[in-house]
Amino acid sequence: MKGSMNQEKGKVHGITDVSGDYRLLEIHCPKIAETARPGQFVHVLVPRLDGSVLRRPFSIFSAENGNLSIVFKIVGRGTHVMGHLESHDELSVIGPLGNGFPDPAPYKVPILVAGGYGVAPLLYLAQYTGVTGIAFAGGRTEQDLLFASDFEDLGWEVVLATDDGSKGMKGVVTDAVRERLSGNSENMEPEFFACGPDGMLRAISALVIEGGWTGWMSLDKHMGCAIGACLACVQRIRASDGSTSLKRVCKDGPIFESREIVWSENDEA
Ligand code: FES
Repeated sequence: MKGSMNQEKGKVHGITDVSGDYRLLEIHCPKIAETARPGQFVHVLVPRLDGSVLRRPFSIFSAENGNLSIVFKIVGRGTHVMGHLESHDELSVIGPLGNGFPDPAPYKVPILVAGGYGVAPLLYLAQYTGVTGIAFAGGRTEQDLLFASDFEDLGWEVVLATDDGSKGMKGVVTDAVRERLSGNSENMEPEFFACGPDGMLRAISALVIEGGWTGWMSLDKHMGCAIGACLACVQRIRASDGSTSLKRVCKDGPIFESREIVWSENDEA
């Protein structure tokens, strides 16, 4: 599942507006692009950003022809600088990092659940594996729903939800999943792949466990080194024998199965 890690000087290949403050940054990084797979991430050193802010982790959105791309939202100084990168600017990239999603089981129906730009590794998974299923995407407003038509082009059923009802169902994406699967009239056996905020992953994990299904959650933790050395990203994980221990999301994850994740110390027993 893991590709070998490289550190590369990447050259900006292009930057595109996706929606609202979301941007797609394409970097020429052939060594990393060659071994990347969906669910893995890169640690990027933003150029021209002095001071204490160092590298930042980004899910890989695509990797082909020596280029890899990431999706980000302009929310602070670092991402503001990234939004103004120009073709041929250089930036140091470490990757591919993390375990990545497992291949979808051939006899199950893949269910993707995305919160905001958590859609990035999930569209990569859909493109990479060539399977089809149901893609759910949620966000605060229509602007936070990215790449829905790309899933449709690949033959996926797409279900959207927004907090303000500006697109799709009004409400949280978890409710859209629950509603769509209620009754399970097709009698399908779903396998979940999810990426988004903790609250969403926690709710989807509960749904997965309740249904007796399998769900792969991509955790988003604050990171320091991203290579397993600093322990800034630890998460309590339950082993199959019920014992728990702290694991590094950057190195042992970021993907864990729903039953493995101990969301709070109260859940530990
Ligand atoms: Fe340093 Fe994970 S970020 S160990």
